[in-house]
Amino acid sequence: MESSQNPSRVGEQPTHSIKKGATFWFTGLSGAGKSSLSQAVKNEIDKMLGDSHKCFILDGDVIRRGLNKDLGFTAEDRAENIRRISEVSKLFAMSGQLCFVAFISPYAKDRAFGKEIHKAEGIPFYECFINSPLEVCEKRDPKGMYKKARAGEIKNFTGVSDPYEAPEHPELDIRTDQLSIEQSVNVILKQL
Ligand SMILES: Nc1ncnc2c1ncn2[C@@H]1O[C@H](COP(=O)(O)OP(=O)(O)O)[C@@H](O)[C@H]1O
Ligand SMILES: [Mg+2]
Repeated sequence: MESSQNPSRVGEQPTHSIKKGATFWFTGLSGAGKSSLSQAVKNEIDKMLGDSHKCFILDGDVIRRGLNKDLGFTAEDRAENIRRISEVSKLFAMSGQLCFVAFISPYAKDRAFGKEIHKAEGIPFYECFINSPLEVCEKRDPKGMYKKARAGEIKNFTGVSDPYEAPEHPELDIRTDQLSIEQSVNVILKQL
């Protein structure tokens, strides 16, 4: 489909070849749909290829329990969190995999670092804004985090007591409050 017919495609981006490694960087508020979408896209690609090893998901919820469990939620720790994930996703992409990164990654400069180090190696990096208004995310509240943040039980919670810098020029802008999960998956598959 032409990008002009697809409201989620921003600009005239080249279509990515599924044969090449790449990083799809999902950024957005908690509850926007990063984890759900990355898993749904992986399921589709696994089925298409008959191979469950082409896609790898780096999910904030998982990485923060393991690799980055020494990090908190100050701006410095968030930056270090994203720096490590950027390096890891680059390595996966260099090995030929499609790496889906599902982190809030609230700061534009941290995401720009990820893009920069991919660019330096000639590895495609697609910033995907998983875009849903705060009110919708808060209503979904899949993990009850907003409730806790509003009650003051969680400090530095993005959107409530910590900033979120929305991407200004994302490769994909996916309005998950307007699209179903299936439609959102299709927007990403079209990039491939
Ligand atoms: N188009 C959509 N894309 C992704 N998730 C959606 C969409 N529409 C509704 N949802 C729902 O929104 C919630 C998003 O939660 P989750 O994927 O955990 O968000 P995040 O990982 O960004 O914090 C899920 O309950 C999911 O079913
Ligand atoms: Mg998640």
